[in-house]
Amino acid sequence: LNKVIPYKLSDIGEGIREVVILEWYVKPGDKVAQFDSICEVKSDKASVTITSRYDGTVTKLHYETDDVAFVGQPLLDIDTEENDETSKDEDVIEPEPSGDLTNKTSGIGGVKTLATPAVRRLATENNLNLADIAGTGKDGRVLKEDVLRHIEGGSAPVPTPAPVAPAPQTHSMPPSAPHAPAPQTLKAAAPRAPPPAPAGQDRTVQLKGVTKAMVKAMTEALKIPHFGYGDEINMTQLVELRSRLKVVAEERGLKLSYMPFFIKAASLALTHYPVLNSSVDATCENLTYKAAHNIGVAMDTPEGLVVPCVKNVQGLSIFEVAAELNRLQSLGLAGKLGQADLSGVTFSLSNIGNIGGTYTKPVVMPPNVAIGAMGRIQVVPRFDENGEITKAHIINVSWSADHRIIDGATMARFSNLWKQYLEDPLSFVLDLK
Ligand code: COA
Repeated sequence: LNKVIPYKLSDIGEGIREVVILEWYVKPGDKVAQFDSICEVKSDKASVTITSRYDGTVTKLHYETDDVAFVGQPLLDIDTEENDETSKDEDVIEPEPSGDLTNKTSGIGGVKTLATPAVRRLATENNLNLADIAGTGKDGRVLKEDVLRHIEGGSAPVPTPAPVAPAPQTHSMPPSAPHAPAPQTLKAAAPRAPPPAPAGQDRTVQLKGVTKAMVKAMTEALKIPHFGYGDEINMTQLVELRSRLKVVAEERGLKLSYMPFFIKAASLALTHYPVLNSSVDATCENLTYKAAHNIGVAMDTPEGLVVPCVKNVQGLSIFEVAAELNRLQSLGLAGKLGQADLSGVTFSLSNIGNIGGTYTKPVVMPPNVAIGAMGRIQVVPRFDENGEITKAHIINVSWSADHRIIDGATMARFSNLWKQYLEDPLSFVLDLK
């Protein structure tokens, strides 16, 4: 007996009531089997793949791509032979595991393979390495039929792999960097594009996804009495050191920017001022000193601002921080950051300087109590210790802290220590584990 079942979006947790449909993998008339991917949705936190619990035929999609779908409401209708819908009338939700919507291949150049968790499971159950299977889906995504075809011994046209950051090969540092320092140049601004045609008429859009999350987070942040503190850091030595280490990092398949130094210096300074790595509860009665330094990094992505975090920075080398940042940045650019990467932030840094600017006023994200933001490195004259004018690479940092918890002196002492590591980067050597 066939039965058309409205397949509901189940509770994803974390209080999420709605998601945006990013992509449908099925259309009316398609046959689906259990664990087949149905669609990809995005909550205000992360991308999630929805898979089927039924064998059947899709009869109707309740939403178009980019629509907002609500928890508890039908996503699509499936014509199934099964009668007992009571236990199965909601979808299976598979959050993308942290950093791994991609199953890493052993492949050349660290190319990664895109696949949904259900497809990955199917490959694992059949002892297959996803890297060995040619994906025919979007951006080379390995689909269920690709795995089945592989099991049956068939082959598919090999697609061009999606460009992703190469995987780090090793994290250990060489005893010395055998490369001559390269002169540091700041990137020129992009050539100015002609202005787009004027709109002509007003346009109203619904706020969704990352923008909607920003409304919620910033409204909460408005309850915090912000305290601001700024300073300038002489980066001249670090600029030279980074230009040498950047070459070494590239040989290891890693991009090494200034961020890993900012992040590691913050973690070292946080060990001296743990209150800045604490969380305050909603009623401001209890303060939890967080053991892990999970440093959130404000990231400008095609979808907007997100803040993934590098976890447990206290136990990572600068190279390991860079590797993790590379991973988060590739996921962010692809709009594929998972919930695990976006949660658990204990302290944040925002580097707006890759875009421009000198000073900023960062916003503390509750339950955190502090955040720092850096402007662009500028080459400007400064006096050295002999009173001589020298060419200096200067960056400005702006700290914001929750003034209910943090006083100015603590913020200033922390900032001084952070600054010390960055101005004399050799001092890292003493304190790195
Ligand atoms: N001054 C000068 N150069 C800078 C710089 C700064 N403050 N920050 C970055 N750069 C350089 C980098 O060193 C790199 O140069 P390179 O090619 O010589 O290595 C280049 O700019 C690109 O760096 P980027 O890819 O942006 O890496 P990053 O690690 O410095 O920054 C992010 C990573 C995710 C922080 C950054 O890409 C980003 O999204 N910043 C915006 C954050 C934001 O929107 N904040 C506002 C929140 S309201």
